[in-house]
Amino acid sequence: MDKISEGLKRLQEPGLPNREDLIALLSLEDEKELEPLFLAADALRKESVGNVVHLRGIVEFSNYCERNCLYCGLRQANRQLTRYRMTDREIVDAALAVKAANVATLVLQSGEDSFYDTEKLCRLIEKIKAETGLITTLSIGERPREDYQSFRDAGADRYLLKHETAVPSLYRRFHPDSRRENRLQCLKWLKELNYETGTGCMVGLPGQDNAALAEDILLIKSLDSDMAGIGPFLPHPQTPLAACPSGEVLPVLKMLALVRLACPTINMPATTALTVLHPEGRRKALAAGANVVMPDFTPPVYRRLYDLYPGRTADIEEPSAILKKLEEELNDCGRTLWK
Ligand code: 5AD
Ligand code: SF4
Repeated sequence: MDKISEGLKRLQEPGLPNREDLIALLSLEDEKELEPLFLAADALRKESVGNVVHLRGIVEFSNYCERNCLYCGLRQANRQLTRYRMTDREIVDAALAVKAANVATLVLQSGEDSFYDTEKLCRLIEKIKAETGLITTLSIGERPREDYQSFRDAGADRYLLKHETAVPSLYRRFHPDSRRENRLQCLKWLKELNYETGTGCMVGLPGQDNAALAEDILLIKSLDSDMAGIGPFLPHPQTPLAACPSGEVLPVLKMLALVRLACPTINMPATTALTVLHPEGRRKALAAGANVVMPDFTPPVYRRLYDLYPGRTADIEEPSAILKKLEEELNDCGRTLWK
């Protein structure tokens, strides 16, 4: 057996993957050499989570953020961005639109915005659960354990908190006002509180080499994550990383494939960021191990202000357009939609 096949085989054995294998596989650049990796990931995806593509309707209800992550357009120091907060009614209406589109899961996302205190969020979650019955995922950043407990009691089912990068020195460099230890602590609390928990990272951050990406895979595996969002870094002009090169498609696809092999039953979206980077991004991701798509149900007036990275706000597709296109794309490759 050649080195690549041996590495692929070892990766599918139980336990933590071998770091050197991950680095070796991440270092492959040649499309021919990479074929066995993508084929193995696609086969394992089919065997362990099936041909179904799950939909999550995302509603970005506030673009206020109190943090200053160096890569992100929502960072507080970006004074050029017009800020918004949706009203409770607007948020519930957006959730009703998710339900009307027959999508079973809602993701409520915002910057780290303390305007929405525990009380406000709990009332909102209760209202959404009562009016829609949707599976409800929160993606609102780091909070104290008691808050996570209260949201869970109010009916929240899942929580997304990307680890962004597993390497301590990189984490420090990009997050002037948050600590890696606290983020990992939050992820542990969420697990303890019985949330289905999602994490994930960016690919192509300045200074992030293959060894760093291997650490991301090992962390996703060791956290026993139920979900992992993995997308390219895209430099935003109103951030300190404006002049840095953008992430690329192939490294993201390699990461998706390797995470699928290391964590067979994990849920992984084809991220919007990948679709922004490449028009065929979604199809490529779904063929490399991904099994989730997240159409954006934020009302268009607000959607264009949720300016995490460039390209996102102008061209982002309407949920109805995504759903229609998806049906066609999936028909072509023998996959089906799970709403
Ligand atoms: N490029 C790619 N993804 C980004 N995010 C924030 N800024 C960028 C960027 N410049 C992602 C982060 C965060 C999510 C809300 O958006 O991974 O978790
Ligand atoms: Fe705020 Fe999240 Fe952007 Fe960081 S990545 S600045 S926490 S919205």
